[in-house]
Amino acid sequence: MSRKPFIAGNWKMNMTVESGKKLIKELKPLVKKANCDVALCVPAILIPEMVKAAKGSNISIGAQNVHFAEKGAYTGEISADMLKDYGVKYVIIGHSERRQYFGETDETVNKRTLTALNAGLTPIVCVGETLDEREEDLTEEVLDRQLKVGLNGIEDIKKVVIAYEPVWAIGTGKTATDEQAQETIAYIRKKIGELFCPKCAEEVIIQYGGSMNAGNCKGLMAQPDIDGGLIGGASLKLDFATIVNFDK
Ligand code: PGA
Repeated sequence: MSRKPFIAGNWKMNMTVESGKKLIKELKPLVKKANCDVALCVPAILIPEMVKAAKGSNISIGAQNVHFAEKGAYTGEISADMLKDYGVKYVIIGHSERRQYFGETDETVNKRTLTALNAGLTPIVCVGETLDEREEDLTEEVLDRQLKVGLNGIEDIKKVVIAYEPVWAIGTGKTATDEQAQETIAYIRKKIGELFCPKCAEEVIIQYGGSMNAGNCKGLMAQPDIDGGLIGGASLKLDFATIVNFDK
């Protein structure tokens, strides 16, 4: 079974309309021959302009969060239908920064994931352990819980992308080694097999995220279980194109 690699950028709370449009314009010709799926997950307010900027290219636009209710009295929140309205295809759910600063839990990750799927969006569900958890040998336990609770009740797991992002590697310049990333992602795949079905585990796309850049992407992407990357810092510059073209 061959899985199509998927490289997604996560702009986090960076860029403006002008700088975002400029970057997408420059990226378009550089990524057009990519053999992988390509997306940029941008701040919600930039979505309409970035969708326009990416039109006619192979760059899809994603969001960085979605509310779990369909609509209603949730001041400041954005619904899945609103994202769909603007042509959004992907949504990051449960990023460690949201878990750390915005009270995201495995339960809310689960609700958001189900809502996104219902609306026809592809969720990119983030999981990963902190440094303390890794050092205390709790990585598998943490992942077991995040996967079991976060993905509870999903009918077709193949419609979900999973991003393994060890929290200690995010924005720190400290990437997991190729072997560490491979070993943990293989574990996640095995777990998906247990929670869902062995065949689905073979088909589900699992990305690595955490200080992935133009220099280390080749080694990571060469690992048999790593199907792509969720790229933070390096997606704010043309290095993103080098990562997307990792096989060239
Ligand atoms: P980074 O971020 O590439 O800057 O480490 C990755 C992420 O948080 O998705």
